[in-house]
Amino acid sequence: MLPSGELVKFEHGQDMVLFNITGAEEDKRVFRIPTLRNLSLTAPYFHDGSAATIEEAIAIMAKVQVEKTIDPGEEVAIVAFLKSLVGEQPQIVIPILPPE
Ligand code: HEM
Repeated sequence: MLPSGELVKFEHGQDMVLFNITGAEEDKRVFRIPTLRNLSLTAPYFHDGSAATIEEAIAIMAKVQVEKTIDPGEEVAIVAFLKSLVGEQPQIVIPILPPE
C-alpha cells in the first residue's frame, strides 16, 4: 500500500470528518494516510480535492506534515518517485443495487 494507512492529524482545510462522528477533540482533522500507488493518476489530491496537482500536494505535505520547504530538485525527485509507483489501475465495478 505504501504507506501504512494510519489515522493522523493533518491541519489543512475545514473538514472535521472523524470528529463529526465521534465528537472527540483529538479526532479533529484526523485523516487516513492514503496509498501512494497510482497516485499520479488520481488528481486532485487530499480528502477535499484542494490540491490540483501532485506538485501542490507535495509542497503542502512538506510544509504541514514535515515543516520543510521542498526545493525544485527535491520536488522533481519526489514526483519521479511517486510516478514510479504507477501500475495497473484496478477496474472498480460499481454494483447495481436492487430497488427499494
Ligand atoms: C514530504 C513528505 C510527504 C510527501 C511527499 C507526501 C505526499 C502526499 C500526497 C501526494 C498526498 C495526497 C494523496 C491523495 O490525495 O491521494 C498525501 C496525503 C496524505 N499524507 Fe502525505 N506526504 C508526506 C508526508 C506525510 C507525513 C509525514 C504524514 C503523516 C504524519 C502524511 C500524512 C498524510 C495524510 C493523512 C494524507 C491524506 C490527507 C487528506 O486526505 O486530506 N504525509 N501525502
